[in-house]
Amino acid sequence: MYAGAKGLFYALSRSSRLKRLASTYGMTADGFARRFIAGETVEEAIASARALQAQGLHLTLDYLGESVRTSDAARAAVAEYIHVMDLIVASGIERNLSIKLTQLGLTVDRATCVDNLRRILDPAREHGFFVRIDMENSQWTDVTLEVFETLWQQQYRNVGVVLQSALYRSEADAVRMNELGACVRLVKGAYKEPGSVAYQKKSEVDASYLHLMHILMDGGTMPAIATHDPALIDAARAHAASRGIGPDRFEFEMLFGIRRDLQASLTTAGHRVRIYVPFGREWFPYFMRRLGERPENVRFVLRAILHERRH
Ligand code: FDA
Repeated sequence: MYAGAKGLFYALSRSSRLKRLASTYGMTADGFARRFIAGETVEEAIASARALQAQGLHLTLDYLGESVRTSDAARAAVAEYIHVMDLIVASGIERNLSIKLTQLGLTVDRATCVDNLRRILDPAREHGFFVRIDMENSQWTDVTLEVFETLWQQQYRNVGVVLQSALYRSEADAVRMNELGACVRLVKGAYKEPGSVAYQKKSEVDASYLHLMHILMDGGTMPAIATHDPALIDAARAHAASRGIGPDRFEFEMLFGIRRDLQASLTTAGHRVRIYVPFGREWFPYFMRRLGERPENVRFVLRAILHERRH
């Protein structure tokens, strides 16, 4: 069921009819996708980010887009990211971005992608941005970590990666990232993966998360514990307390619109909590992954669509 729902929603995320339907209703003023997406424009994202900062939360902005098929589209994404950085600097909000390498041309070729990433990392470094490279499906894990390490060896330090507890390989990757001194965001993994590379049961993914969290908290650099799972969050806090790891040495991360209660209570308890704020017109695949994580969300979307159609 755990892997099955993700697979179904992944297949649906490729349906252009469904995408058209969602695009019609999803981002209207009170559209159903607004629960998870900050808006289609960077101005809307900055307004949401400002509101989060006012509540004591930290943020990272993701200009949505993935799997671009041409180098022109990848170049356009770079230009957009540079524009987004300018607006963030002008707005005074925190300077932190999350990006996907397939948005920068990894699907076209590795060299294009590395050049494009440098075009973002250079101005990002100049203006004090941290840039997190999101992790996509397992087809891209090796090359994503390799691109990261290439840039790390070229002394880019304003960049971090993501590891997924669903993958068997992640223990070795966590140890390697600790050796480098790299900053890792730990997630469970949002993609449907085959049994040859990934755990299929939720209990296994959770156990792996706990194990990797210990590795990163004990030997890593500012790990980001990115989950809404209360049991794992409690485990992270208990581990930190037992090892004398202060709240300035790790952070929690959560997605825009999910478990706002937990975001607030952790902030009140003195933890650093960063919110992933996605925005842009290409929100459909991201939105479908959120539905796949929690099929109960579908009922809420269907209700919203039926309501819109009646009015
Ligand atoms: P789990 O799925 O067990 O959920 C725990 C609880 O959280 C649920 O019981 C529910 O209350 C709440 N919840 C979780 N998802 C929800 C949803 N969609 N709607 C409503 N409630 C929900 N993945 C990836 O593969 N690559 C990446 O780069 C990233 N990046 C990333 C950044 C950040 C900041 C976060 C928080 C997550 C990611 N992810 C990701 C997604 C991640 O892999 C995972 O799919 C989701 O975080 C859901 O898993 P949880 O850890 O929350 O646990």
